[in-house]
Amino acid sequence: MSTKTSAQRASFSGRLGYVLTTAGSAVGLGNIWRFPYLAAKYGGGAFLLVYLILVMTFGYTLIISETAIGRMTKKSPIGAFEHFGKGPSFRFGGWINAIIPMIIGPYYCVIGGWVLRYLAGYAAGGVKALSGDNYFSDFISDGVSVEGWFLVFALCTVVVIFFGVQKGVEKISRLMMPALVVLALLVAIYSVTRPGALSGVRYFLIPDIRHFSWMTVVAALGQMFYSLSCAMGILITYGSYMEKDVSIERSTSEVEFFDTAIAILAGLMIIPAVFAFSGNDAARNLQAGPSLMFITMPKVFGSMGMGTAIGIIFFLLVFFAALTSSISLAETCASTFEDELHMKREYASMIVTVLFIGLGTLSSLGFNVLKSVTILGMDFLDFFDFLSNSIMMPIAAIAICVLVLRSVTLKGIEEEVCKGGAKFKRKKIYTFIIKYLSILFLLVILASSVLNVLGIIHI
Ligand code: TRP
Repeated sequence: MSTKTSAQRASFSGRLGYVLTTAGSAVGLGNIWRFPYLAAKYGGGAFLLVYLILVMTFGYTLIISETAIGRMTKKSPIGAFEHFGKGPSFRFGGWINAIIPMIIGPYYCVIGGWVLRYLAGYAAGGVKALSGDNYFSDFISDGVSVEGWFLVFALCTVVVIFFGVQKGVEKISRLMMPALVVLALLVAIYSVTRPGALSGVRYFLIPDIRHFSWMTVVAALGQMFYSLSCAMGILITYGSYMEKDVSIERSTSEVEFFDTAIAILAGLMIIPAVFAFSGNDAARNLQAGPSLMFITMPKVFGSMGMGTAIGIIFFLLVFFAALTSSISLAETCASTFEDELHMKREYASMIVTVLFIGLGTLSSLGFNVLKSVTILGMDFLDFFDFLSNSIMMPIAAIAICVLVLRSVTLKGIEEEVCKGGAKFKRKKIYTFIIKYLSILFLLVILASSVLNVLGIIHI
């Protein structure tokens, strides 16, 4: 009896460990900041529906493939690709996966800086000022302030990489995540019960074909990669830490579920509030883009009792969710430099610091000092976001699918997924998508976002 219990406990805690760590890295600004503004902008319910379908099909396929490849090879992306062959195409597949976090990490820290600015604002008791109409645009056009807060956030991130106190941060995030869920629930309930909020709930939850466009699909796919941290090699690395007796299918499904649930909750906090608090401006505010969370949430807090306290707690939790994610982004970059370029830890951390501060500064100054500089019509932050999510991730995802089909083989994936007697329940869907749909679909998405940005087609 006692042996049975301990055996059960051991395997359970292994799975839970994997699920918690992966969910901790998946849940971040992508869920609370990025998902709601994309859903608001690209069709509300139509976006949500497309997103859910993509998560359950493509997201599922990719997450399983990457985790299985990681566990099979016990390597991070570049090594994992090279495990199957040494040619330039394998090296390309590995490197494109490894470079994506180097592009996302820096601008992630810029948004992290915005979160810190708001946190400090609430702590200083500025709940009324923060809810003002122009607060955000005034803040963002002040280069010194944006850069300063970005540097604080970036330093919080790289300090951890230097000293390797990741364990401590993980502990904090395990406490903070449940707190985030509870608080998000409370704020969501408050938001949806405001007068006028119901039309927002309807807009977000009920798909309306008139709000659908091809851009809905492009944006939803990019968001799916971003939120699940797919197509950038991180899941390969996490898979390599996974024990053989843990069910890949079950644990990845749980991560998907958790990540999607938080995103929906964030949508329910923010979108109904847009309708309730912006009156006739609702349609315009839905288009706000990256600034949406920073404009709507302060209005909610400004109008409620205990707004200061709730504002502090809310931004503190967003800060922690963002920090744990940015640490794992930076950590991935550092380990790529360490493993592949044979750098010492300190040296690799220094390069990461320079990279994050350099590219991040471009993004943070793109709204003020460098406002006149645009790339393909986008400011730097938008450009880095577009480059990583709409161009590089589809390519990285194609590389993974090709690797599965040509080198790992479907049989190899199945064997890995079924290790330790685990089931592969959605094998049919997996096989169908990876064999017939994924590459074609990813190519179409890639082509349409490139043609769109070049102005050749308009989607
Ligand atoms: N998924 C994270 C989020 O939703 C962002 C992210 C993308 C990430 N890639 C990552 C986090 C890699 C950690 C590691 O915010």
